[in-house]
Amino acid sequence: MTEPVSTTTSTDITLRLPDADATRALGTAIAGLLRAGDLVILTGDLGAGKTTLTQGIGAALNVRGQVASPTFIVAREHPPLPHADGTRGPGLVHVDAYRLGGLGELDALDLDSSLADSVTVVEWGRGLAEALAEDRLEIDLERPRGGAVDGDDPADDPEAGTRTATLRAVGPRWAGVDLRTLGA
Ligand SMILES: Nc1ncnc2c1ncn2[C@@H]1O[C@H](COP(=O)(O)OP(=O)(O)OP(=O)(O)O)[C@@H](O)[C@H]1O
Ligand SMILES: [Mg+2]
Repeated sequence: MTEPVSTTTSTDITLRLPDADATRALGTAIAGLLRAGDLVILTGDLGAGKTTLTQGIGAALNVRGQVASPTFIVAREHPPLPHADGTRGPGLVHVDAYRLGGLGELDALDLDSSLADSVTVVEWGRGLAEALAEDRLEIDLERPRGGAVDGDDPADDPEAGTRTATLRAVGPRWAGVDLRTLGA
């Protein structure tokens, strides 16, 4: 599914994502590392695949509802559905930080789900969450540019092409978690 490009430290890894299915599959793999209370910060341009990755996380957590771009709302809540063995994992809170002044405002939203019982995924979160969250999984999604001639740049087509995801885990919560397993 994914092929490691480089590993700079034990908590930094860059993966190549040839298509949307690979991005969803990475989300599914990441969900295996996530637990209630975790914060994931997704950064990347329009169409980079932030929502696509979140769909993979939501599918693996088995949450209710369709994970879509949280446009026009600040946060969408997806409660957990029971797994086959009857247990439920954490729910998903999917946030569009574009509409949020800071992560502190999340508490003021009066969500039904407690963030402590949920996995919180923030799109466009860079710069908002750092000051407030000691522990976080940061994921940068990028569409490589260049190599095209005369307006034929595949990077201009938001539907097309390979992305890279660079993951960095920050804070004591992630100590000892080896992100390289995601590239295996
Ligand atoms: N490798 C890839 N990874 C993810 N999406 C891809 C890839 N290749 C093509 N796509 C397509 O690119 C689009 C990505 O859209 P998505 O909504 O996930 O991006 P986004 O980063 O959430 O955008 P926005 O900033 O608008 O919220 C989808 O149409 C998807 O099918
Ligand atoms: Mg999106």
